[in-house]
Amino acid sequence: MSDAVEKTLASYNEGQRSGSSTLEIPQKRPARTGDIFDKAFGFTRADEALAAGMHPYFKPIAAQHGGSVVVNGQEMVITGSNDYLGLTQDERLKTAARAALDNFGTSCTGSRFLTGTLTLHEELEQRLARYLRKGSALTFSAGYLGSLSVLSALTGRQDILYFDRENHSCLYDGARLSFGSLRKYEHNDLADLERLLAKDVGKPGGRMIVTDGVFSMSGHIADLPGIVKLARKYGARIAVDDAHASGVLGKNGRGTAEHFNLEDEIDLIIGTFSKSFASVGGFVAGPRAVVNWIKHKARPFIFTAALPAMQIAAALKALEIMESEPWLREQLWQNVEQFRSGINHLGFDTLGSETPIIPVLIGPDDLTMTFWKALWEEGVFTTPALPPGVPVGQSIIRTSVNANHTAEQLERLLSAFAVVGRKFGVIS
Ligand SMILES: Cc1ncc(COP(=O)(O)O)c(C=O)c1O
Repeated sequence: MSDAVEKTLASYNEGQRSGSSTLEIPQKRPARTGDIFDKAFGFTRADEALAAGMHPYFKPIAAQHGGSVVVNGQEMVITGSNDYLGLTQDERLKTAARAALDNFGTSCTGSRFLTGTLTLHEELEQRLARYLRKGSALTFSAGYLGSLSVLSALTGRQDILYFDRENHSCLYDGARLSFGSLRKYEHNDLADLERLLAKDVGKPGGRMIVTDGVFSMSGHIADLPGIVKLARKYGARIAVDDAHASGVLGKNGRGTAEHFNLEDEIDLIIGTFSKSFASVGGFVAGPRAVVNWIKHKARPFIFTAALPAMQIAAALKALEIMESEPWLREQLWQNVEQFRSGINHLGFDTLGSETPIIPVLIGPDDLTMTFWKALWEEGVFTTPALPPGVPVGQSIIRTSVNANHTAEQLERLLSAFAVVGRKFGVIS
């Protein structure tokens, strides 16, 4: 060990003992035009919230079994995760992931483009394309990177993207990474979408309507039948981000397009493995030529390391289970029905959600935070969603139901909501 490293470690250890770290970056540098770190040094809100016990985010989970977790040594019921089919604890997925780990090791350490393509990637891509009835599929190291890849690779300078305002941030970031134009229509408001499409008639470039299939905060389902009609009328392509719909909607779990019997009409399905697939990573499925273009042009695909084997193997096993065990989806919807009817019966407003994502409207931000804290004290692990994630004045507790919630756990959630809702006058 060099002297410098030894000295640094010694001073760090001393700092740890005395409760202060001497490795802290100096607070101020003499700078003529300001310090780029100023914004960070001035950011105290999160620390203040933490000190007041009112920081609902980044809570470390020590263990998880089905719908319950251990946090700070306490067992809690969790609602709000995206493990819709409850497969993250499934022994078959764990076994498949272990086998892939043994065969391929812990990382691809390279881009798909160069040394990182495994036979497993190709197997998953072929299986996905078949499942979703598309010409081809491509996997990404995250759903987020999939959206960046699809939108940045496809949208050229003259092209126009039409976005539902409630679209997920990864789609917005994909649009920002592209050179095209973005038009936002009011949430699920097809008259507004048509107004925008009509305004652009005669302009050069291609058009694509981009929407979440199931919206991640409201749990609403996109009006695909209406979107398909407008796409035909104005010559636009359609891309659906089915992150919260894969494995959940449709008789065979193929998502929003299957739910509406419109699979042939949707050009691109963007998805993630981080929800029903109980893994991590993302994908796009669509016409072979389009997927091939993305594969060769998308920078967020090419300039990052490939999805590791364990994650692909877990997603592959999840896909197999999704296809062969419809009872899991039936269990999920039975649980959704139990929780949604219970929470509506108590008098809460769930914003018309039709899916396993069930927002509970609280309204003002302060009240929502207080509500969250009281739920926490009742042994419920959940998270509030505040603006800009939701409209101003419409803050929610975002709940979601999974197939592996037991009836007792759902009852425990409902009792906690009843106690806290009455205490703060949200319900009577
Ligand atoms: C609608 C939607 N799309 C995409 C993503 C990104 O998925 P990933 O977690 O795989 O990056 C999410 C994740 O929360 C999402 O909700």
